[in-house]
Amino acid sequence: MRTFIALAWLILPGLSAVAAAEPSTRIAWTPQTLNLVKSGDPARGQTKAASCQGCHGAEPANAATPFPYLNGQLATYLYRQLQDYKAGGRPHPIMTGIAAALSDQDMADIAQWYSQQAPVQMPEGRGDVPRLVVDGDSKRLIAPCGICHGGHGQGEPVDTPRLSGQKASYLKETLLAYKSGQRHNDIYRRMRIMAERLSPEEIDVLGNYYGGLR
Ligand code: HEC
Ligand code: HEC
Repeated sequence: MRTFIALAWLILPGLSAVAAAEPSTRIAWTPQTLNLVKSGDPARGQTKAASCQGCHGAEPANAATPFPYLNGQLATYLYRQLQDYKAGGRPHPIMTGIAAALSDQDMADIAQWYSQQAPVQMPEGRGDVPRLVVDGDSKRLIAPCGICHGGHGQGEPVDTPRLSGQKASYLKETLLAYKSGQRHNDIYRRMRIMAERLSPEEIDVLGNYYGGLR
């Protein structure tokens, strides 16, 4: 069953890439881009991120806001999202303008700094592991979340994001945005294809699960 799912996921992205009229992102992971992100300076990044912290800081005051945590997120993922906000691949009323003011080097510095901060610890703790995380659903061609996002939701290179410790409310909102197509910068439509097949109830369960994971 696992092999079947893995195969389907090798084939499906190819098909949808052909069908897509516009590229979902302009970032291609060339050695140069990877090196730029890797060479980001976290000390400079901390200074540059001062204006971000009011919304993205891991302070208790931010726990109930709709802004995602960035602490402990993969630097490559953060860098790519900032580039996508700037280029318009992930349009957003707040983030597009903010990212437009950042240079490639700013993005690399900020991404490095956030990636080195400890992920936020969620007070509610870990719940039962939902079936979709481990097994997926072969009938609906939903691959297990864990094969891409990691067994503990920790994220995987190059740019599959950490989910564990993220706010449950943000995870649910962004899954619903993939489902409706409002968020469409995922390469090969991987997340959109899956989210389209998830029910709102399943999205609720998945958001709560990853939101409670450290
Ligand atoms: C006024 C509040 C606000 C400020 C200030 C702000 N952001 Fe955001 N940020 C948001 C919101 C809201 C989202 C979610 C947008 C969406 O759903 O696409 C977001 C999303 C992001 C994401 C995507 C996270 C993910 O998990 O996909 C990144 C990266 C990001 N912001 C970086 C920054 C950086 C870097 C700065 C400072 C230079 C900054 N933000 C300043 C509100 C803010
Ligand atoms: C085939 C690999 C793959 C599988 C399987 C997968 N994801 Fe993803 N996911 C990704 C990638 C790659 C991204 C980044 C896409 C982008 O840039 O928008 C992502 C992004 C996300 C995000 C956005 C995170 C953020 O910070 O904004 C959420 C939430 C998410 N996935 C949840 C899930 C859930 C829940 C499942 C299981 C039902 C799942 N994913 C299965 C590859 C995968």
